[in-house]
Amino acid sequence: KDKSALPSRPPVVTIMGHVDHGKTTLLDTLRSASVAKGEAGGITQHIGAFSVPVKGEVGRSITFLDTPGHAAFSAMRARGAGVTDIVVLVVAADDGVMPQTREVIDLVKKDGDNVSLVVAINKVDKPGADAEKVEQALLAEGVQLETFGGDVPCVHVSGLTGRGLDRLVETISLVAEMQDLRAEKQGPVHGYVLESKVQKGLGPVATVLLLRGSLTPGSHLICGHTQAKVRLLTSPSGQQIKLVQPGEAVVVSGWKELPGAGDEVLSGTEAEVKKALVNRIRKAEIEATLQDVDA
Ligand code: GTP
Ligand code: NA
Ligand code: MG
Repeated sequence: KDKSALPSRPPVVTIMGHVDHGKTTLLDTLRSASVAKGEAGGITQHIGAFSVPVKGEVGRSITFLDTPGHAAFSAMRARGAGVTDIVVLVVAADDGVMPQTREVIDLVKKDGDNVSLVVAINKVDKPGADAEKVEQALLAEGVQLETFGGDVPCVHVSGLTGRGLDRLVETISLVAEMQDLRAEKQGPVHGYVLESKVQKGLGPVATVLLLRGSLTPGSHLICGHTQAKVRLLTSPSGQQIKLVQPGEAVVVSGWKELPGAGDEVLSGTEAEVKKALVNRIRKAEIEATLQDVDA
């Protein structure tokens, strides 16, 4: 099928970087700044994910995912990088290139065909900030910054004061335009679980990033060894959503059991989902039996 005939979808942008380099602060400022400016469409807030409308571009938005920088969360970073179109690597101007900065650079290099990199040198408001020194250090790590003739854009920002954030969003939307992201909005669902938990009153819920298809209340989903008949689609603030678009994240309730973070989500008819689940469980049982024989 001709991809150019498909509707465009918002870019999925994952914010990554070393612990305490300011990822969450940057996103918080981006989010509240957009609220304060009263931009069209408002803001949808999700667990670990939210979307911001692009200024002056009606109907266009960016889906942001936050990730932790702590060393213990490398699996989460890998998961984030795996579902993303653009990685924004946040590097604190007073701290420079650190272990999780390098980890993110390696993740992006490994998946370079599918992921574009944008660098945000953060905390430029701090007295000890030296953005040029950080740029040199990134170049030494093999990051081909535009300043040095490469193709990786780099924006100097302060998540605290908001300086440079408009330029960061502009840069992200330019990169996304080049990627020409499109997705089928109709038909079967394809997505990934970003995180899951048991929520009082709702039971197991999962934040799902939708990549393709039509996800509505009543959809039948399969994920790992569990299934859902979608009961509610909501934002964490409790707003009900009737129809999720590809490129958006949403909290899904109606699961029989808790789905695993990182697992693939697919949809089908009730009968298809039931059959696929039986097959998956049977296959897992056979594999477990074979492992016992091996041992
Ligand atoms: P993890 O999620 O734990 O990896 O941290 P993070 O990268 O999300 O950093 P966070 O936003 O929690 O910020 C860490 C500290 O840096 C906080 O004390 C922030 O107030 C501070 N900070 C973040 N951005 C800036 C900035 O632009 N300027 C200054 N001066 N401080 C900042
Ligand atoms: Na922090
Ligand atoms: Mg954080």
